[in-house]
Amino acid sequence: MLSNTLQQALNDQIRKEFHSSYIYLSMAAYFEAENLPGMAHWMRLQADEEREHAMKIYDFVLDRGGRVTLQAIEAPPTDFASPLAVFETAYAHEQKVTQSIHDLYALAVKEGDYPTQVMLQWFVDEQVEEEKSAGLVVAQLRRVGDSPAALLMLDQQLGQRAEA
Ligand SMILES: [Fe+2]
Ligand SMILES: [Fe+2]
Repeated sequence: MLSNTLQQALNDQIRKEFHSSYIYLSMAAYFEAENLPGMAHWMRLQADEEREHAMKIYDFVLDRGGRVTLQAIEAPPTDFASPLAVFETAYAHEQKVTQSIHDLYALAVKEGDYPTQVMLQWFVDEQVEEEKSAGLVVAQLRRVGDSPAALLMLDQQLGQRAEA
């Protein structure tokens, strides 16, 4: 049985994952408007992944006999200064989510809840990947600088991202 504190924290993490999904979908819409379909595709897949993250925790709470209570999702940013600004925002967001997962893990340790620790282990690993992939695109966009040709090449490359 989940403790009330942990159940509340897991429900809050469900909200954060849906919020992440909403942010990335908003970024996808921005890229569509900017005629960068490859980056839009990348962000759309990212939004799908975040929804899957939310559902993983959703199912875990139910498996533990807990209660899922969905919360309001904050509006995402809708406008960005540049493709670089978008990915910098995504990278900073993932760092925040990593901290949130670590806090959740620490709480599960404090409560002696082993199943939650095991479940969160997947998220700890996933956050390493998430920071790595967003950080890589930030570095690539910095290298692109003001070159439209390089930006279009990177857009094509990101358009090849496959579903996980
Ligand atoms: Fe996530
Ligand atoms: Fe993420």
